[in-house]
Amino acid sequence: MRLLLILLPLMLWGEEDFISHYEYGEMLYANPRGVSCAQCHGESGEGQIIVEYRDIHGKQALKGSDIRRDSLDDMIKAVSTYHKVMPRYYLTNEEVKAIYDYLQKKNQAYLSQFTESNSTE
Ligand code: HEC
Repeated sequence: MRLLLILLPLMLWGEEDFISHYEYGEMLYANPRGVSCAQCHGESGEGQIIVEYRDIHGKQALKGSDIRRDSLDDMIKAVSTYHKVMPRYYLTNEEVKAIYDYLQKKNQAYLSQFTESNSTE
């Protein structure tokens, strides 16, 4: 019985590709190795304030940037290098691509306003 409980999810997993590429990206964006991108870059990558604090210059805010218009290359680079604030992730290029595709699709409407003027095709 115990073995079956362990095997059952694996069997279900093997059955078919029941989560889509989009859902896979969504899952990774929300929870990539523990620290969520959304926590700092917002629900859809639009960026958000991480914390607000006061120092001698007054009120300060630490912000996660808007990453909706970043390229896949930018994203792979950002995820796999060290930063002051952002953690370094150990994600494969495939996983980063899933996150990238998820954000592209989720922000389709927002991004479409740039394609006309910026497109090089
Ligand atoms: C703890 C907050 C935090 C988390 C979690 C985080 N980021 Fe970031 N990210 C930042 C900050 C802040 C920057 C700006 C560079 C810096 O100072 O770290 C940044 C930079 C970036 C950049 C480069 C664009 C730029 O503005 O320089 C990309 C792309 C990016 N992050 C994507 C991601 C993805 C994808 C994830 C999840 C796998 C993620 N980040 C998780 C805070 C975060």
